[in-house]
Amino acid sequence: MAGTWDELIQQIKEKLDIVDVVSEQVVLKKRGNTYWGLCPFHKDKNPSFCVTPHMGIYKCFSCGEAGDALKFIMKTRNIEFKDLIVELADKFGLEVPKSHNKGGTSSKEEREQMLAATMVAAEFYHDLLIRQKAPNAEIALNYLTKRGIGSDIIKKFHLGIAPKTYTTLYDELRKDFSNDILEKAGLVLKSEKGGYIDRFRNRVIIPIQNENGDYVAFGARALEKDQNPKYLNSSDSLIYNKSRLLYGLYTAKDSIRENDAVVLMEGYFDVISSQAHGIENCVASCGTSLTAEHVKLLSRYTKSRRIYLSFDTDAAGQKATNRGAEIIKEVFKGLGDIKQFDESYVSSDKDKYACEIRVIAPPEGKDPDEFVRSVGADAYKMYMENAPLLIDFQIQSILKDKDKYAAPQEKAQFIKQIIPILAEVENKIIRSGYIDIVAQTLGVDSRAIQSEIRVFERANLPQTERIVKNVTKKSSVLQKAQKNLLSVFLVPDSPFTFTQINEMIGDTQIDDEILINVKSTIDKLIYTVNNVKELIEHLYTEYVDKPDIQAILPELISISEVYRGLSEEDFKNVIRETINKINRCRQIKETEHIKSLYKGISDDDPEALKIQIQLRDKIKKNRQKSEKI
Ligand code: UTP
Ligand code: MN
Repeated sequence: MAGTWDELIQQIKEKLDIVDVVSEQVVLKKRGNTYWGLCPFHKDKNPSFCVTPHMGIYKCFSCGEAGDALKFIMKTRNIEFKDLIVELADKFGLEVPKSHNKGGTSSKEEREQMLAATMVAAEFYHDLLIRQKAPNAEIALNYLTKRGIGSDIIKKFHLGIAPKTYTTLYDELRKDFSNDILEKAGLVLKSEKGGYIDRFRNRVIIPIQNENGDYVAFGARALEKDQNPKYLNSSDSLIYNKSRLLYGLYTAKDSIRENDAVVLMEGYFDVISSQAHGIENCVASCGTSLTAEHVKLLSRYTKSRRIYLSFDTDAAGQKATNRGAEIIKEVFKGLGDIKQFDESYVSSDKDKYACEIRVIAPPEGKDPDEFVRSVGADAYKMYMENAPLLIDFQIQSILKDKDKYAAPQEKAQFIKQIIPILAEVENKIIRSGYIDIVAQTLGVDSRAIQSEIRVFERANLPQTERIVKNVTKKSSVLQKAQKNLLSVFLVPDSPFTFTQINEMIGDTQIDDEILINVKSTIDKLIYTVNNVKELIEHLYTEYVDKPDIQAILPELISISEVYRGLSEEDFKNVIRETINKINRCRQIKETEHIKSLYKGISDDDPEALKIQIQLRDKIKKNRQKSEKI
């Protein structure tokens, strides 16, 4: 029996696992009792997003976003609370109280209808093939047999046949489903004459399941040579999103978990043949290239995030391998190192790496489908066991051409391809290991390679980053100087009164938000307190609810220790120098900012020259000012 709305919310909360919920959007790494990842709510470079499972909450320590599993779903999917509760109640098989169950569920009903229609279509196509009810079923069966696909595999993957005729599926499904639903599910198309025709004709049908095993779409392989395209795919719909779904995942997921590894392939038939021959932890994208969402999806199933790329071994496949690797690296960037060397001889904890990328590329040069059928699944598994790490694969596939380059100029040019790969290795010991390998193989000095890497790194540091680095360096000096200035108030045996110190500081500008706050509180307190001890006590009380400001007080106190016992003259000098430093830093910071504006102006801008002249004047003035200080 349905309980109250509040009881329903409680039941749902109990069933939701915060780690599972967040993992759908964010790659998490376990650290002690908490999980960490890159915050999905702001541009996070280092993992500042923390999930605490025993409390059922998440919090970003950088942008401050926090909440429970329900809030996370609402924020990331932009969905209303009530709709979410109804959806989750449905998912968990809980009853929604009548008072809350009216209206607003039309898209849910539509989804259900679309799923049902797709399932009926899959069964229909399958039946036409195995019972040879379609005129082209025999041709299709012969074609599949030639590809090594017998009736067991046909049944396992529920393969089917779409007849040549125009409305076979439509005539069957229109009895139970509206035109609208069939069109939205991508099963039929509006014909020019006004009626509806089947989308897939004269093709082998490969039904596509989502993670829950529902049929949501189709890939359809041409039966005849001149039929274009070779594969026709369902387009995206309410129930199918190509960039978030991987073919074969439903049947592969247990094996991915067991092996703690997944093999990414290119084609439907690569996955079909491999899974049929006992390599079950493989998946492929459906007529689209790999996306970050695919990678996130996979990382939920393999704890060590061990991903094998097994693409075609031709030039296009090699390109796809590099592109796929880039996408995987992008997803895991900031979460830690990508495994870059084998250390089976070192005892290691499994979660040390953000991910591990390996490449399966048998020298026979076939795609996994052909390889498994002609050479065998055991041989494939052997290649998998010995699959090189991405970096080894990339370096070796470049080095294999080394004999073509003998002259120093040629070698220099040749090595340029390897430099970016080496530059990516952050661990200096591992990097120098690889440099030695390359140096030895090519007979060049490893120091020369090292210096080429430095040149590359310098040239590739994005311009903005260079400016930001400079500015942050300046601003941390500036911040330090501002702290020094405030700490002067906290010197226990200072030769001056609070008011005298305040006069010396005058209107020196402070621009750090926290320090501005502290300064104005000090300004207020110095009229009521009698000594430094009281001032410190009052500051602590003032910030009892503001831990981020309170945290700065011990630092100020410890700086003030340095100024203890100074003579009047020295004390005055300290204050004067600190103020000068602050002003100088601010000038430099401003100049840097102007310079960055200057660089940012496009030469095509008709105003460019005018603006540049103005900026140059400003820079000059700033320089003169800071020289005077
Ligand atoms: P391939 O052309 O390599 O497929 O495209 P394949 O599996 O080796 O094809 P067979 O063996 O000749 O049947 C790889 C994948 O790219 C997508 C499909 O997902 C295919 O499995 N693709 C390819 C399309 O979506 N449309 C096309 O026209 C071609
Ligand atoms: Mn292929």
